[in-house]
Amino acid sequence: MSVIKVEDVAFVRFQVPDLKRMEQYLTDFGMALSSTQPNPDKLYMRGRGTGPFVHAAELGEPAFKAFGFRASSVDDLAKLAAETGAKVEASDEPGGGSIVRLKDPDGHGVEVVAGWTPEAELPLQEHVAWNNAHLQPRQRLVKRTGAGSATVVRLGHLVLNVSDFRRAENWYKSLFGLLTSDEIMAGPDVSIGAFMRCDRGDQPTDHHTLALASLPTGAAGFNHAAFEVGDMDDLMRGHNHLKAIGAEQEWGVGRHFLGSQVFDYWRDPWGFTLEHWTDGDLFTADDAPRQASIQEVLDVQWGPAMPASMTG
Ligand SMILES: [Fe+2]
Repeated sequence: MSVIKVEDVAFVRFQVPDLKRMEQYLTDFGMALSSTQPNPDKLYMRGRGTGPFVHAAELGEPAFKAFGFRASSVDDLAKLAAETGAKVEASDEPGGGSIVRLKDPDGHGVEVVAGWTPEAELPLQEHVAWNNAHLQPRQRLVKRTGAGSATVVRLGHLVLNVSDFRRAENWYKSLFGLLTSDEIMAGPDVSIGAFMRCDRGDQPTDHHTLALASLPTGAAGFNHAAFEVGDMDDLMRGHNHLKAIGAEQEWGVGRHFLGSQVFDYWRDPWGFTLEHWTDGDLFTADDAPRQASIQEVLDVQWGPAMPASMTG
């Protein structure tokens, strides 16, 4: 039994030396300014969903600071605090509510929020149905995607490099109730990582919310954060927009095996990898864990091969 079961990931937190530049990049990436900006030395950006922010940045040398899970209640935060010795604090960030701040075994900041006041959703790009060879729901209507950035809806998952996979896995599972979707096998009985999802019971949830990977170098750190966009047209619109402004692309567009999502990876101005994705697999708590090979992580169903920069 885990201490609590988290509902989802909510945000990532970075330190960067130029908040204006960060805001411009994230706007081009498809986010919008959060409705409140309570601190001039911090920047909060939201998606089109109800989360008050999905990306937080504070002034300083470039660094990954933390990521946040969303818990279902403030009572759950009290349980976490009792288990870990951390404090439940009132949050002065957009959405308010309460927050517990923890460190994982590698020292990554892990925050858990509850009691957020949700924001009104922002409109997505106008969505008209996709036709295919089997089903043609769009009839007597034209599709025009327009030009411009993608529309980020929410933070979907985060990948961390960890120095000891089993130690990190145990920490995250025992506190937050994560379930393994795919465990990555380097050989028989040699596990080097896992794609894990939230335990939402019968409610379908993303194939991976947090993935842990132990690299051959043993180095721990931020790998990437992935934001869900409206759909495939939205992702490609955003791709063309980021290309047009000269953003640094890292990998894509392609379709992964594990999670099956269509992906497009970019680097922010300080080199942090941010992903656009759409059309991923959804599982319930009844779906059994699988074992997957490293090849299934590296290979694509279609699209360009993974560049060396992604693995180390
Ligand atoms: Fe990803």
